[in-house]
Order: sequence, then structure tokens, then C-alpha cells
Amino acid sequence: MKKAGIIGAMEIEVARLKEMMTDVTVTKKASMEFNQGLLNGKPVVVVQCGIGKVNAGICAQILVDDFQVDAVINTGVAGSLRNEINIGDIVISTDAVHHDMDVRALGYKKGQIPQIDVFAFPADETMQKVAAEACREVNPEIQVFSGRVLSGDQFISDHGVKSVLVDELDGFCTEMEGAAIGQTAWLNKVPFVILRAISDKADDSASMDYPVFERQAAWHCVTLVEKLLEELA
Ligand code: ADE
Repeated sequence: MKKAGIIGAMEIEVARLKEMMTDVTVTKKASMEFNQGLLNGKPVVVVQCGIGKVNAGICAQILVDDFQVDAVINTGVAGSLRNEINIGDIVISTDAVHHDMDVRALGYKKGQIPQIDVFAFPADETMQKVAAEACREVNPEIQVFSGRVLSGDQFISDHGVKSVLVDELDGFCTEMEGAAIGQTAWLNKVPFVILRAISDKADDSASMDYPVFERQAAWHCVTLVEKLLEELA
């Protein structure tokens, strides 16, 4: 890996990474700041894309076109979709699906994008494996899971909606950017992985839990990204 693009949706997800960088050049495009430089000596571009799938897709495409990144890492927080995945734990994507893509009226399975020949965008296997090992090393006190990330332009905070996501799409966690980044990376044949720390359980307590646990969860991802870069180089 020569240069990794690292995308977080919110300031809290990228602030610490930006602080740790050296030799930084900032480029603005599409109202986003692309911070190119070194993170622990490794070439990276760190960017806050903003919330939601459109921002995330635009950002990932700019990283490919303008910065020639050869790997994309999406870091941030997510809602857990499984009882055993607790607040603070990490989910590493095996693949990613748009849970709000719904063309069932024309015979497609929920989540399937018509005229694209995969259902779920597969994360890079080496990045997954290295991330899981890195996570166990730097965050030994939490659990790390490998599984499907579900993305949609919705904050999930209802146990009924959550059950549908689990039953129909087999998700491990839900957030609002990963599948758009995965799709963009897949279309461009660039490897990607999504790293998400759990901030809430995507149920009726999510709106209360999220603001309390967001910071702690985001921190778990920062330490993981640092270690992953070290191990991938
Ligand atoms: N990000 C963190 N928690 C989330 C949730 N419950 N739904 C969507 N995105 C999230």
C-alpha cells in the first residue's frame, strides 16, 4: 500500500488522526478538506466527508481521482445490530450493503442495486485480517467482530426497524456512509475496509446512548487505524 485514503464522517472521527499527521498539505474540494501528509511516517490523506452516503461517495471518488490512493479506510461509529456486539466493541467489514436500496417492486432483493452484479461490496481480505489482528493488539479490552456493515441515510433508533435489518440483510452494524465508500472503491477496483466502533444499539435507547458513547467509540477506531497503517505498510 503506497497511500491510504482515510474517511470519517464527523470531526470527532478524524480530529485525532489529523493532529497526529506531519508534512500536511490541505486541499479543498466539494466543500471537504483533504489533509495529505504522513501519519506515523505513512503516506495518507485524511478527510472528513460529512454525514450520509452522497457525501461519502463523492469523497471516495475524489480520493481516487485527485490523490491516487491505493486503499480506502472508512473509520467511525455505528449502531450494533446484534445482542453480543456491545457499545465500545469494533466491527470490521466483510462486506457492505445499502439497507435503504429497495427495488423489490421490480423483483430485486432488498439491498440489491439493479444492474450491479454484486449484492454486497466485498471488503479487502488482507485489510480485514490485518485490522482484526491490529484491533486485538491495541484494544484488548474490547471485542472485535467481522461482519456485514449496513448503510443508509437513516439513524436507526427503533427496535422494529432494527429487526428488519437483521432478519433481511444479516447486518452486524449500521451506519450512514460505509456502503457508499465500498461501492465507490469497488467501481474503481481499489481495496477498502470499514472499521466501526459501536456507539449505540440502534434501538429505542440509541438516541440517548449515542451522545454519551460517541467519543469513547471513536477513540477505539483511532488507535486501530494507527496500528492498521503500521501493519499494512
Ligand atoms: N451511527 C451510529 N449509530 C447509528 C445508528 N443507530 N444508525 C445509523 N448510524 C449510526
